[in-house]
Amino acid sequence: MNSKGIKHMSIIMDGNGRWAELRGEPRSMGHIAGIKSVKQAIEASIVNNVEYLSLYAFSEENWSRPQEEVDKLMSLMLSSIGKEREELNNQGIRFRVLGNRSRLSLELNNAIDDLMQFTEDNTKLHLIIMLSYSGKWDILQAAKALAQDYKLNKISEEEFNQISLSSFEDYLVTRDVPDPDIILRTASEQRLSNYFLWQASYSELIFIDTLWPDFTKEDYDKALKIFSKRERRFGKV
Ligand code: IPE
Ligand code: IPE
Ligand code: MG
Repeated sequence: MNSKGIKHMSIIMDGNGRWAELRGEPRSMGHIAGIKSVKQAIEASIVNNVEYLSLYAFSEENWSRPQEEVDKLMSLMLSSIGKEREELNNQGIRFRVLGNRSRLSLELNNAIDDLMQFTEDNTKLHLIIMLSYSGKWDILQAAKALAQDYKLNKISEEEFNQISLSSFEDYLVTRDVPDPDIILRTASEQRLSNYFLWQASYSELIFIDTLWPDFTKEDYDKALKIFSKRERRFGKV
């Protein structure tokens, strides 16, 4: 935790397509240009002692985009993992991917596993890429896993009767990640688009106009400033 009380910054990285269209380029150019913004967000997190940075990179609904765009996004993910491997580790970053991994290719899953293992002892920053993720999917998979544990007698009748918010959270993919203090969305849309539906219960929502490929550390700092002026009450007075 830093002096501003922010442990976890989460970003809905939106506006790549519009950024490319404004330049008369294919949408995929916007996704490529967005990589440098990811680096800006990582740097800003480290400078500000934010321990967790999660990035919404691809939603379950994004699988419905044209196949060519989906393929390009997945290959960009694969190539970035290869290219940034050493740099991420040198910076002390622990890399993770959370989401519906069963929909990813074997090649991409192997590369993700490799980088997750390679960086698992790092503690400077938890970088969490939310890939093939959606909030409803997360809650559903948690409920299914819980039902399965009950069926297999992995949890007793008594434990089942005492399921609490916190024991249910142990089944979400974010089980060891604190809820986001800030959810920052770029590119002017003011919605969650099926992001952290459970985890966002008390997140401060911040919306900015910057398109993701134009995002800089200054935008990050601006979000921290907006957050510092918010009063979080968590339902109390
Ligand atoms: C965000 O940019 C990246 C992903 C959702 C994968 P978009 O591709 O949604 O860009 P816009 O919203 O069309 O401009
Ligand atoms: C949300 O953006 C998903 C990501 C940024 C990865 P979308 O661009 O898919 O959201 P909608 O369709 O505008 O709600
Ligand atoms: Mg979008």
